[in-house]
Amino acid sequence: MPSDEAPSGEARYYITTPIYYVNDRPHIGHAYSTLACDVLARFMRLDGRRVFFLTGTDEHGQKVEKSAQSAGVDPQTFTDQVSENFRELASLMGFSNDDFIRTTERRHRESAQALWHALADAGEIYLGSYSGWYAVRDEAFYGEDELTRTEGGRMVAPSGAEAEWVEEPSYFFRLSAWQDRLLAFYEANPDFIGPDSRRNEVVSFVKGGLRDLSVSRTTFKWGIPVPDDPDHIMYVWLDALTNYITAVGYPQTDSEAFRTFWPADLHMVGKDILRFHAVYWPAFLMAAGIEPPRRVFAHGWLLNRGEKMSKSLGNVLRPSDLIEKYGLDPVRYYLLREVPFGADGYISHESMVHRINGDLSNDFGNLAQRFLSMIQKNCGAKVPQPGELSAEDMALLDAADALLPKLRQELGQQAFHRGLEAIWSVIGDANRYVDEQAPWALRKTDPDRMATVLYVLAETLRRLALLVQPVMPDAMSRMLDQLSVPADQRGFGDLDKTLTPGTELPKPEGVFPRYVEPEAAQ
Ligand code: ME8
Ligand code: MG
Repeated sequence: MPSDEAPSGEARYYITTPIYYVNDRPHIGHAYSTLACDVLARFMRLDGRRVFFLTGTDEHGQKVEKSAQSAGVDPQTFTDQVSENFRELASLMGFSNDDFIRTTERRHRESAQALWHALADAGEIYLGSYSGWYAVRDEAFYGEDELTRTEGGRMVAPSGAEAEWVEEPSYFFRLSAWQDRLLAFYEANPDFIGPDSRRNEVVSFVKGGLRDLSVSRTTFKWGIPVPDDPDHIMYVWLDALTNYITAVGYPQTDSEAFRTFWPADLHMVGKDILRFHAVYWPAFLMAAGIEPPRRVFAHGWLLNRGEKMSKSLGNVLRPSDLIEKYGLDPVRYYLLREVPFGADGYISHESMVHRINGDLSNDFGNLAQRFLSMIQKNCGAKVPQPGELSAEDMALLDAADALLPKLRQELGQQAFHRGLEAIWSVIGDANRYVDEQAPWALRKTDPDRMATVLYVLAETLRRLALLVQPVMPDAMSRMLDQLSVPADQRGFGDLDKTLTPGTELPKPEGVFPRYVEPEAAQ
């Protein structure tokens, strides 16, 4: 049984994003994958786990070499520049990654070559020659049966990438021999691939039979040389996948980092690269005697105006534009709330504004504003002293308390939209509670009861704000400031503490302004 514990006995969590090709500037699709990981990493940290959150860039291979050529610079200079754009994305989006790996780093070359050695020593690699189809855009080999011939005679992969005929000496990995062991592995680890629909796809792909995989190329130079045969460059996917173990210290498998964090808890990927992560990667690892990761989750495509974003369609959304327009936290919330995670989904200005003005401003923001301003005016700007709690008071507080176990379960399955739905349903309860209890009417008739109602609302808001932190860290930090919650009492372990009556509260400030169309603003 794999254990959740680090050698120190602490609970740990290792999560990774895909490492992105440096052939392009980052767009909202890249931000989406990393955002999902950031939310999980923040959630697990607040929940008391020791987290390692990795992202980075995939810098070798023919595709990057070609992009460097068209930019007119050498590949190292090119990758230095473009990789920096992805680092900037991390700071722009507020990502809390613990490391940023580049496959051109020395630690990674050593690790990838060590993995190659381990595979070669185990007799899993042999020299042969490859003749077949290769799509540079996907950096993938395809069987003729997987391709479509266009009228012009071009061969096109299901992804739309054009494949070219390749004939060259090549090392092969004995993937065909791993079919049964992979199927047994999926069977024994039903949570290895999520969502379930994707799991079924992978299982039927493997059941269909596996060919040995070409794992080296000889017709270009930009990559990691095969140990002892430097005419060969390691296949960029073998190189790239290895980043996940490099970052935790491979080949030092007895290091603290490796023993603590490997196997990874989750590799987050887009559905386009599931096969590499769910078929090739566990086969490489098992062949090298290393435990496979615990889970791979493949999310869907974010579509703009119904089409996949691409440079050539000119419909690429840049994270910086969205953040400038709507603000960072609303964008973070929207991306994870609007589209059921796992499925493809549209994003649009209209639905964004709907979420900002509805969920954030009306539902969550107003809830806070309504009672915080009453506390200012009627309770001396201090956390009120509650009297005895009624059944309604208890019901609301209990609903807020039930959220953490629910969120652990939903986020454990990467169902962000369901987690957020659950939180917003308690926000709805709280708004109904304000309407029903009508504290403004109690001011004259029963000030003690008014104090109790306002206290219950403040306490509910505290719990909600703590739980929303992973998604909107900045807005929630400001909301918790409004409740004077000390900075060191904002973990999930603090959920069952309570606000102290008499604590001074600052003047309330709205956290979620409404979005107003620029042409309407004056
Ligand atoms: O495949 N919607 O890198 P890549 C959602 N280097 N997610 C999207 C997206 C969209 N429209 N567009 C891109 C590679 N993504 C390899 C990975 S890992 C060892 C090597 C996200 O730059 C999604 O996560 O092509 C997808 O899988 C990834 O970017 C592909 O990034
Ligand atoms: Mg791609």
